[in-house]
Amino acid sequence: MAGTKNTGRSELPGLETPKFGPTGRPLREFADPAPLKSHGPARIISLCNQKGGVGKTTTTINLGATLAGYGRRVLAIDFDPQGALSAGLNVNTHDALTIYDLLLGSAKDPSAAIQHTSVEGLDVIPANIDLSAAEVHLVNEVARETILARVLRKVSADYDVILIDCQPSLGLLTINALTASHGVFIPLECEFFALRGVALLVETIDKVRDRLNPAIELDGILATMYDPRTLHSREVLERVVDAFGDAVLETVIGRTVKFPDASVAGRPITQFAPEHSAAKAYKQLARELVARGAVA
Ligand SMILES: Nc1ncnc2c1ncn2[C@@H]1O[C@H](COP(=O)(O)OP(=O)(O)OP(=O)(O)O)[C@@H](O)[C@H]1O
Ligand SMILES: [Mg+2]
Repeated sequence: MAGTKNTGRSELPGLETPKFGPTGRPLREFADPAPLKSHGPARIISLCNQKGGVGKTTTTINLGATLAGYGRRVLAIDFDPQGALSAGLNVNTHDALTIYDLLLGSAKDPSAAIQHTSVEGLDVIPANIDLSAAEVHLVNEVARETILARVLRKVSADYDVILIDCQPSLGLLTINALTASHGVFIPLECEFFALRGVALLVETIDKVRDRLNPAIELDGILATMYDPRTLHSREVLERVVDAFGDAVLETVIGRTVKFPDASVAGRPITQFAPEHSAAKAYKQLARELVARGAVA
């Protein structure tokens, strides 16, 4: 037809050129998760990377909110004395029971520490700076690595997924989180030093599997703060995929100022800017994790 460009194979039925996502794999749509007929026991997932500022807390908040939007009952654990998760979800940390009280045993019932958030179906156990003293207090405890696991066992039946937002360290708190978990996600920022330290993290997960928690699985590596306009970001992602192959989730979270803006507003991006591509990326992440079987 006059004026029609020859676009080659893509015009032949059944031979459409596949579109590739940022991780180099063909782009796929993941189906909306089917509603659950019953709830619990929870699959427990740690978001872990000893490198700071890679998107652990942002992912805990937004993945949690999105899974709750899909009808999952989600409990987020703030396991960082900085309390960024608690602040990001706008919950009380001052005159409230926190995860510290539960670890130390000064509060016995974890449900007393649970707070609801503005997102229906997303609850949180908060933390504040008290938690920074926990490692020192717990160091002489019997079975000090399994304390969080014992706390979470008491509430696991009420939730479909429990997300633990770890602090940027591989100390005793993070070992507690890994020991309590069925799976671990590693958020990685797409910048030059992203891979530094990941070998040590993987080694730590292997040690926990060997000595404390034989069932723990690496659920996936999530590339965050990806900027497709920079060669640098694309190169880093390529190296991450070379190093970790299919463990790298197909969903990639782009870099956008909407995240800091949403944090200031104390709301997940799915509420703050539901039509923004970043909110859509977290929805896609939730669907991919359900498709992979990491979440019910
Ligand atoms: N995709 C993104 N694009 C732009 N900014 C982001 C993105 N994800 C997170 N941020 C911002 O980067 C900063 C660090 O993110 P976040 O707090 O989630 O990282 P973290 O790994 O939990 O950090 P820490 O190790 O200190 O706990 C925050 O200011 C957050 O708003
Ligand atoms: Mg954090």
